Amino acid sequence: MAINGQTQLVGVIGWPITHSLSPEMHNAAFSYMGLNWRYVPLPVRSEHLREALRGIASLGFRGINVTVPHKVDVIPLVDTITEAVTVVGAINTIRVDRSTGRLEGMNTDMGGFLSDMAANRISFGKDRPVIILGAGGAARAAAAGLVRSGAHVILVNRTLAHAESIVYFMQSSWAQPNIEFAPVDALAEVSRNACLIVNTTPVGQWPNVTETPWTEGVPFPQDCTVYDMVYHPVKTRLLREAEAAGLRAVSGIGMLVYQGANAFEAWTGKKPPIDLMKMTCLQILNESGALKL
Ligand code: ATR
Repeated sequence: MAINGQTQLVGVIGWPITHSLSPEMHNAAFSYMGLNWRYVPLPVRSEHLREALRGIASLGFRGINVTVPHKVDVIPLVDTITEAVTVVGAINTIRVDRSTGRLEGMNTDMGGFLSDMAANRISFGKDRPVIILGAGGAARAAAAGLVRSGAHVILVNRTLAHAESIVYFMQSSWAQPNIEFAPVDALAEVSRNACLIVNTTPVGQWPNVTETPWTEGVPFPQDCTVYDMVYHPVKTRLLREAEAAGLRAVSGIGMLVYQGANAFEAWTGKKPPIDLMKMTCLQILNESGALKL
């Protein structure tokens, strides 16, 4: 569909914006749905964040995704926030109100993660803990979604203070959240009975494919699922080693797709073609060799 005066714009702001799959994923979906919309990458430095957000509304953008390093810093710069932003403490999607130009900050990472858990039929109860590796924005979204769904979460991170601050944040938001933190050297002990391990760190991501966030020598728990938010390569060292130890290994590509699908629906008001979005991502990853690694 030609770009013309009717074309509606969305995009992603972050710094740097290098290997984002979102433009191709969304543009494929717009094209499939016959929507005259385009999704563009918008590299924005931190010092220009405020001006960029004003520009988004003035230029008539319908919305944007927000990625590293702006997910927390945009919170005071939008007009309203959803409940998901309150519980996660980060924004990954903004919708622009067409009539007023007001910016609504949303978080589709938490819902995207939970949708992918459901799509993969990954279950968790409070009897066996879920181990989350890492304590950045992605860990916050996963932790909030899991705790709300009744899981017992243990955050394990190299900088203990970062894990601690997520736990304190949740304790200040909810009554008795089932979440705690532990240092990396306690991993063997705290993970012994885990039902699910979620990697939210970038460790193992291309080009550092020989790395793993799982501590060498620590046995994997039995009858456990390992979910890796790193999706390039699709089979990370963590997932390969988990599979070799008899565990179920799930790539996080689905989370990317579902968070994108939720943003698509928020902007367009239409149901997104989820399978096509996933196929588009896998095709790009395949072309880059990420499926073979
Ligand atoms: P995001 O917001 O996408 O989750 P992030 O804020 O950079 O990304 O968080 C990445 C997490 O992975 C952090 O918890 C980070 O650990 P620190 O809190 O100690 O910084 C963790 N991480 C990044 N690189 C790591 C590495 N090489 N080894 C272990 N943890 C790492």
